[in-house]
Amino acid sequence: MNVTVFGTGYVGLVQGAILADVGHHVMCVDVDADKIERLKQGIIPIYEPGLEPLVKENYAAGRLDFTTDAAEGVKHGDIQFIAVGTPPDEDGSADLKYVLVVAETIAQHMERHRIVVDKSTVPVGTADKVRIRMQEVLASRGREDLTFDVVSNPEFLKEGSAVADCQKPDRIIIGTESEDSVDAMRELYTPFNRNHDKVMVMDVRSAELTKYAANCMLATKISFMNEIANLAERLGADVEMVRQGIGSDPRIGYHFIYPGVGYGGSCFPKDVQALIRTAGDIDFDAKVLKAVEARNAEQKTTLFQKVRAHFGDELAGKTFAVWGLAFKPNTDDMREAPSRVLMEALWEAGAKVQAYDPEAMEEAQRLYGTRDELTLCGTKETALRGADALVIVTEWQSFRAPDFELIKQQLSEPTIFDGRNMFDPRRMAKKGFTYYSVGRNANR
Ligand code: UDX
Repeated sequence: MNVTVFGTGYVGLVQGAILADVGHHVMCVDVDADKIERLKQGIIPIYEPGLEPLVKENYAAGRLDFTTDAAEGVKHGDIQFIAVGTPPDEDGSADLKYVLVVAETIAQHMERHRIVVDKSTVPVGTADKVRIRMQEVLASRGREDLTFDVVSNPEFLKEGSAVADCQKPDRIIIGTESEDSVDAMRELYTPFNRNHDKVMVMDVRSAELTKYAANCMLATKISFMNEIANLAERLGADVEMVRQGIGSDPRIGYHFIYPGVGYGGSCFPKDVQALIRTAGDIDFDAKVLKAVEARNAEQKTTLFQKVRAHFGDELAGKTFAVWGLAFKPNTDDMREAPSRVLMEALWEAGAKVQAYDPEAMEEAQRLYGTRDELTLCGTKETALRGADALVIVTEWQSFRAPDFELIKQQLSEPTIFDGRNMFDPRRMAKKGFTYYSVGRNANR
């Protein structure tokens, strides 16, 4: 099938690449000419395992192409994906301007029936806005004869496993009333719909809300566990025991109940805020979601609070080794990352940071490169040199079995603040560390 994807961010680029890889002819459109040029040369703007070979091979095979020419894009695909960004605007609601510009563009250039698919995470009611905007543009062209359908087909990929998530989706949600569109979308996804039928057809608004409900439910699990961790810490319990104890109940499950330093990234914070906002727009007070958001904001400060409780108010002139800057492992993304809240609080208190991350160093340089209080280090070991303590913010695999003797030698005092509960507190004590983690330091 011929498919066009507007937007070459996480969602658009991965979607385009996996569709091309199974044999569809995909054209990716973006307004950023540099990005399009680099993509043609096989330079991928994000770190995402498996994406680079997929893009290169399918581009070389002629199944995947890149252009800045929107008219060409509209002409190409029977199915037109809208996968552009929906950044939060000042009040936290999703800003639809890019989505609506693409809608206008499609209506401006289309000459035949088009299936327009919202792939970006967009508030309930967006498909209707896209439809109205397209109708207006078609009317202004005097082409009310042209038909189109707007489908909601939300994406559930996770950064770091985006390619695999798209290739093996848990569910394929198709929100539309049009049977023809359902048939076309089913055909498009046939290569990914094996073993059992993963397609769920529903009305557009339910599809739009499903995406938010999924992310908000996951964010709720995390904030809930962080709350239990804070309680455990104060009650003399161990949240890791509690986690396993409750996870064994299949109704709760072991997934996504890891306490830590709060969720970050491009989805959870934005989507929770956007749904709170959507609720507010219809005078509904989303009490649970507000609490989820508030707990998360506070949880991001937990490492700094522990540092301050340990060192007292004399943080000025101290140096901290920080391991992990990305909001989670296997990505270079630092959007809403807890590491940023920690580092900014340390700087505010007059401390210095020596940071290392396996993938996010360029991003850290871009965000904070001009700051004297930050030294970006080439290895996790060099980040330790002469530091007063180590703070672990992201649970990268390569941090799980460090050389503890070396850590002790390098730090001026053997103190580790671990935001991800990576080590056993008893063993750390035996090794001679003062070890702080989340929800387990009952006796400290
Ligand atoms: C998420 C959803 O998982 C995905 O389905 C959706 O499409 C986009 O948003 P992503 O933001 O890539 O994906 O990351 P994810 O792996 O879900 O982690 C989100 C955040 O939650 C991270 O900051 C992570 O550290 C945190 N987290 C996750 C916890 O603190 N505890 C957990 O148990 C799980």
